[in-house]
Amino acid sequence: MFNDAMESLPNEPLNIPKSIYKERQQRFLSQLTPSDLVIITTPPEAIRSNDVTYPYRTSSDMLYFVGWADPESALVFHYDGTKWISHIFVQPKDTLKEIWEGRRPGIEGALSEWSVDEANSIHDLEKHLDGYLSKSSAVHVRTGISDGIDSIVRSAIERRDRKRQHFGSGPVSMEDPSRRIAEMRLRKSPEEIELMRYAAEVSSVAHELAMKASKDGITEYQVQAIIEGFFVYGGTSGWAYPSIVGCGENATILHYTVNESTCKGDEIILIDAGAEYKGYAADITRSWPINGKFSDAQKEIYEIVLEAQEQAIAACRVGNPYNQPHEVARSVLAEGLIRLGVIDQTLDEALDLESGQLKHWYMHNTGHWLGLDVHDVGVYKPDGTPRLLEAGMVLTVEPGLYFGAWRPDVECPERYANIGIRIEDDVLVTDGEPDVLTNRCPKTIADIEGIMGTV
Ligand code: GLY
Ligand code: MN
Ligand code: MN
Repeated sequence: MFNDAMESLPNEPLNIPKSIYKERQQRFLSQLTPSDLVIITTPPEAIRSNDVTYPYRTSSDMLYFVGWADPESALVFHYDGTKWISHIFVQPKDTLKEIWEGRRPGIEGALSEWSVDEANSIHDLEKHLDGYLSKSSAVHVRTGISDGIDSIVRSAIERRDRKRQHFGSGPVSMEDPSRRIAEMRLRKSPEEIELMRYAAEVSSVAHELAMKASKDGITEYQVQAIIEGFFVYGGTSGWAYPSIVGCGENATILHYTVNESTCKGDEIILIDAGAEYKGYAADITRSWPINGKFSDAQKEIYEIVLEAQEQAIAACRVGNPYNQPHEVARSVLAEGLIRLGVIDQTLDEALDLESGQLKHWYMHNTGHWLGLDVHDVGVYKPDGTPRLLEAGMVLTVEPGLYFGAWRPDVECPERYANIGIRIEDDVLVTDGEPDVLTNRCPKTIADIEGIMGTV
């Protein structure tokens, strides 16, 4: 089943070359001064139960600057008097641990295969930081990711503070480098886009396989197994965020992840699932009838959401405010619901954020940045006004309408009871037309019914 689908995928893209990591480091460091010290931290491994840990995922900033994915590591940038040095601290090689837990690149591997100037054991981080701090007046570190590293940094600053009266050095300030790094991560390079395109292709095919397998009586977890099975089969590291697979009323729960119900033929199933490839996320939602044939009521809602999504994608153009797609989508959704008689307000009234009826059925934003994080970094309003889109930015476009008949807060129109539709694609802003990375995933009613064999 997976084999044929696999053959339709493009070849896996190449790893990001060392020279690109070096260029990113240099571009970031060129914004700093020699008395700055930068520490990129990583989260500790988390216990799942007893001696079992959750699968490890390092910090996206560590992936961005060196592509180092193993636990217990930190990256330090310091100025040696003439140039910036990148210094990584990693788990050292340990044969006994490697026999039990897997091979480690160690210090030697880090130096030979990764884009760093120096490497040492993570156990020596404290000692080195003491030395670097004695020459620094600002530490750029994001706290709250690793308690262990936070406490090493705090005590190194305290030790240095105690000595500073004697040596006449100034105080050390702490700054968060995240915003600067986010500005860089927001604009994707061609190498990153290739990785994102692959994640998007695998995810699109996974949704297509799920469409083909849908039938009365299938369970949400069986559909989830097909989707996530193909993520892994396709060479990705699995899901980029827990898969949302909801049929019937579960399709009206925005972040439903229980995935345990049995689906009936006439229900809509809403699947929001995307793979992560070499750290980069895809994020796709499709919604379709389990039996492959849209009812008239389902069609009415689907067509409105699709129109909203297509118009919002068309607004993903250089120079448009980032929230223009959202405003476009809201208008189309509101117009559609007024036409169907679901909303009994004027368009302006329906769109009002306080009293408009649209928010009963559409309660989220139309998209977000996408990259190493599924909700990727990048300030939306850097100077209080919406950021303008630039070529190289990637965002999702994901309008929806959700008619939960179970909701006590609002009366659901009977005709649309428990119809939940969201359509989500990943869009690269270019100098020309928007480039939909997830274009391959069936989306129109005709495409979906055709794939499911009901037309
Ligand atoms: N998959 C989560 C989202 O669409 O934002
Ligand atoms: Mn999304
Ligand atoms: Mn999503």
